[in-house]
Amino acid sequence: MLGLTFIMNLSIAENIEEPSDELTQVAQEVIAGLSQSPKQVSPKYFYDEKGSALFDAITELDEYYVPRVEKAILVRHRAEICAAIGSGMTLVEPGAGSCEKIRWLLPELDLAAYIPMDISGEHLQASAVSLSDDYAELKISPQVCDHTQGIDIDLAADDAAPVFFYPGSSVGNFEPEAAVEFMRAMRAQMQDTGGLLIGVDTKKDADILHAAYNDSAGVTAQFNVNLLDNLNSLLEGDIDTDKFAHHALYNAEHGRIEMHLRCIGRHSAQLAGHQLEFDEGELVHTEYSYKYHPDEFIELAKSAGFAPVKVWQDEDRWFSVMYFEPV
Ligand code: AVJ
Repeated sequence: MLGLTFIMNLSIAENIEEPSDELTQVAQEVIAGLSQSPKQVSPKYFYDEKGSALFDAITELDEYYVPRVEKAILVRHRAEICAAIGSGMTLVEPGAGSCEKIRWLLPELDLAAYIPMDISGEHLQASAVSLSDDYAELKISPQVCDHTQGIDIDLAADDAAPVFFYPGSSVGNFEPEAAVEFMRAMRAQMQDTGGLLIGVDTKKDADILHAAYNDSAGVTAQFNVNLLDNLNSLLEGDIDTDKFAHHALYNAEHGRIEMHLRCIGRHSAQLAGHQLEFDEGELVHTEYSYKYHPDEFIELAKSAGFAPVKVWQDEDRWFSVMYFEPV
């Protein structure tokens, strides 16, 4: 086959700190959150190996409609979505994980390059290799980084403009002001061309949302409690996970699911050499999952320097996929 090239960066970009620096940074961040009232931990600590497997199990649940509905939208409107993106762009996917979702677009997407980003280098590398098995002509440049700490893609002057792909309603983890800031960080990587293709979960009946985050098999509960196991192993802790129960509710006033761990028995624990006290009934906040009406989200994107091109939704309007261009 003529013109077929295989280009894969073998040494993937690393912009994470030295292990020891990183550990103290993690310890500081986690202890700071647990010293607040109410206590809180960033949702990024869900995703150790077990937590990532539990999240994959969540995506298989009937009650957790998000991946199913998003995929249906992307596949059904693929031609139009790919036409909006145009050809010859560099697609950048923060938090790409298994690089699964880009596969739903690739049959009709003509890219100059694909840059999947993830905090877990091993998993990312394996995903990129498997993707290049199926798309040998696609230039794939994985980048290991924590995109919540800032976006810095290393595009040469003659590289194609970046289009960010941020599916799964991951943007819902940010509070609205932080979501704007994150979109500004993506916008700052573009000049006057480029784009943002983003999946955003919508506001809907509280019962449907409640079921999605309180599944009957208890997988989301395990996912939530596993965060404490992860902290224990990262920071030499002895938090007793049996003393915590999953608590998720829809806060309609703020348009967000709130996940907490509720302490069900007063106890003390050690973490990174710090003494922690948990009172019975105390809540540790672990995650927000904001839901937006498409018009609300468009306002946020506008304040980050984007203009809406098109919004796609399923018939029930349970989810939205939106494409923005820089202004
Ligand atoms: C991966 C952040 C999109 O908020 O729906 C799923 C995470 N938490 N069930 C979401 C999650 C509990 C998920 N995101």
